[in-house]
Amino acid sequence: MIEQENKKKMLIYSGSSNAELANKVAKELGTDLAEVEKEQFASGEIYIRLAESARGADCFVLQSHSGGINFTIMEQLLIVDALKRASAKRITAVLPFYPYSRQDKKALPREPISARLIGDLFIAAGANRLVSIDLHTQQIQGFIHEPFDHLTAVPLFVEYFKDKYKDPVSVISPDAGGVKRATTFAKHLEAYVGFVHKKRDPSKHNEVKAFTVIGEVEDRHAILVDDIIDTGGTIAAASRILKERGAKTVSVVATHGIFSDGSVETLKDAPIDEIVVTDTLEQNGNSEALGNVKVLSVSGIIANALTSIFADDSVSALFMGENVL
Ligand code: R5P
Repeated sequence: MIEQENKKKMLIYSGSSNAELANKVAKELGTDLAEVEKEQFASGEIYIRLAESARGADCFVLQSHSGGINFTIMEQLLIVDALKRASAKRITAVLPFYPYSRQDKKALPREPISARLIGDLFIAAGANRLVSIDLHTQQIQGFIHEPFDHLTAVPLFVEYFKDKYKDPVSVISPDAGGVKRATTFAKHLEAYVGFVHKKRDPSKHNEVKAFTVIGEVEDRHAILVDDIIDTGGTIAAASRILKERGAKTVSVVATHGIFSDGSVETLKDAPIDEIVVTDTLEQNGNSEALGNVKVLSVSGIIANALTSIFADDSVSALFMGENVL
């Protein structure tokens, strides 16, 4: 028998989107990002080359999917493929925001299930594990047949809001599907829970109508809790109805702030005191233009999770089990 000392090696890679978050994660882990040569051919094709050997290493590939989302997906896939062919021991794709997550089922006949395809692509490229934060729907974890570590930014939001208000608070989901998420958050603030009855026409993307609020908001501080702010239509409509029903203030909490073009126009007149998002996505200037957006960093959450994965320790223990609700 030939025995070797424990030669476990961790390497952190980043795609080109949101280098700030990737560098923060590496810093929290006490290391630097592993170098990757990234270029683009005139045709638009992406060129990737790992600068150092990854043989036998536990490799983590971070990428934030915003802006040119189809480019960032392909770039991350290529880094994973390069690692597989470079004999990495284990490859974990870290997608703080899971792209295409809202297309997790057929809403109309003859549509693709794009969220499933994303999972398939990463596994086909060579990922042995996926990590993501506050998935649009938890069942996306079941789209892959490899381990999926689901993290949550709820502890960051709880910390931010826990001593903010003296008067009673209601945590409101802007749709019925998000009530579970709102309930976890409300539990820590000892707040009431409610939701807005909203409707989308599946044939009209980016449009939303809010009808009524289920729950008490009169003379209370309302905190709207969502996973994504994209066009801003959902929270703009929900904030108006909360104000109509007598909410003292309306704050918004959402893990992933996409703030697509047009969101500033949609949100600037909405009765929202403050919007709190995280840096799972690189901010594009629209949130700054709004002037009431606070960005909290998930770097510590990701760094802790990667440390646990590398050490084969529990990830759910970091969240006292609340990451799998
Ligand atoms: C929808 O089900 C999601 O949870 C978000 O409410 C939605 O994606 C937000 O999109 P928008 O800002 O475009 O209304």
